[in-house]
Amino acid sequence: MTAIDAVRPMPWHGLFHRLASGQDRRSSSERELTETTLSSAVYTDPARYQTELALLFRRMPLCLGHVDQLSEPGSVLAREIGGLPLLLVRDRDGSIGVFLNSCRHRGARLVTEDGVLCHRSSLSCLYHGWTYDLSGALVSVPRREAFPTLDMAARGLRRLPSTVRHGLIWAVLDPAQADAPDMADYLGEIDVELAALGLAGHHFFRQHAVQRAANWKLIVDGFIEFYHIKRLHATTIGRFFADSMAVADHVGPHQRMLVARDGFADACALPPEQWSPQLHGTLVHLIFPNTILVFHPDYVSHVGIFPASPDQTLFVHTMLTPNRAHDEKARAHWDRSFDLIDGQVFNDEDLFICEQIQRGLVASASDELLLGRLEGNVRRFHDTVTATLA
Ligand code: FES
Ligand SMILES: [Fe+2]
Repeated sequence: MTAIDAVRPMPWHGLFHRLASGQDRRSSSERELTETTLSSAVYTDPARYQTELALLFRRMPLCLGHVDQLSEPGSVLAREIGGLPLLLVRDRDGSIGVFLNSCRHRGARLVTEDGVLCHRSSLSCLYHGWTYDLSGALVSVPRREAFPTLDMAARGLRRLPSTVRHGLIWAVLDPAQADAPDMADYLGEIDVELAALGLAGHHFFRQHAVQRAANWKLIVDGFIEFYHIKRLHATTIGRFFADSMAVADHVGPHQRMLVARDGFADACALPPEQWSPQLHGTLVHLIFPNTILVFHPDYVSHVGIFPASPDQTLFVHTMLTPNRAHDEKARAHWDRSFDLIDGQVFNDEDLFICEQIQRGLVASASDELLLGRLEGNVRRFHDTVTATLA
């Protein structure tokens, strides 16, 4: 067992019961449905994309990473998310701040290396040398007499409302919002589950960020349906899973999914407190709108899916491990896992397919896509997006 509280009844126990009994979660009216369709315009329409950016990505709390990546005071990470240049900073007191990576003089970026962890004692602008401390306060202006009316206290970096919960950094990308997001409320029952899975105690091991030519929702779709695992992933991870054997719960706008691994039937004979959502099944969370957590047997994948344009998406995959990799053997083990999951499964298979689909959609190869009965989570996700935009 990994770092799981196996004593109390856990939210995933219900998923095990349903998966074991072959019980279908859908209502009788839903079960009667055969297939549904999805307009291809949801992946290509620039006007819809702008609405998604405004109503989903500037209003909802987004997960920007795990605190352990910024392990020491002075750790700084710049990342452009949804068209906004952001700075994640660990202050001297250990707290994490999320700022706009934009100097309050004339807007130059304070940290120009995007996606590269750096260490700074302060943040100094290359252009004219204005300097901010790690709390974002403006502390130094060269030739101060050139700004006789400057109120330095009012010219700190623009801070975005953010909080840390379960070791994850959540922010609302709207500097006009004052309040940090209430993540316990937003996550609902998933909040209990992330606590039980010990995510806060996990360690940052490795990260890969890449921009790929597909709409962000195509990428989400690929993480919430399991019909493709035995086909697309036939030569990589397909052998570890039963075919399309999965159940899902809808937790507010989020989804909690359990996919049966091979040997699931044997696990059903164990007492429920021994059911592992990592060894016997693979637990997957979609935290609406764009965060995916995958609980692999001995590590966790956090996937952030950040739109850059209607047909470009920044894909950030972080491997979180239950223990720190102390020696070469442990590092080699997790490196091999990362190379398989990130390199082959996510990038060469899932994202490759998403780009193929996007190219077809842009070329108007089909004006609608078909969703079968094994793809109900995709239907649910798109319905949630549409309802939120409305
Ligand atoms: S733009 Fe930063 S100091 Fe001028
Ligand atoms: Fe996949």
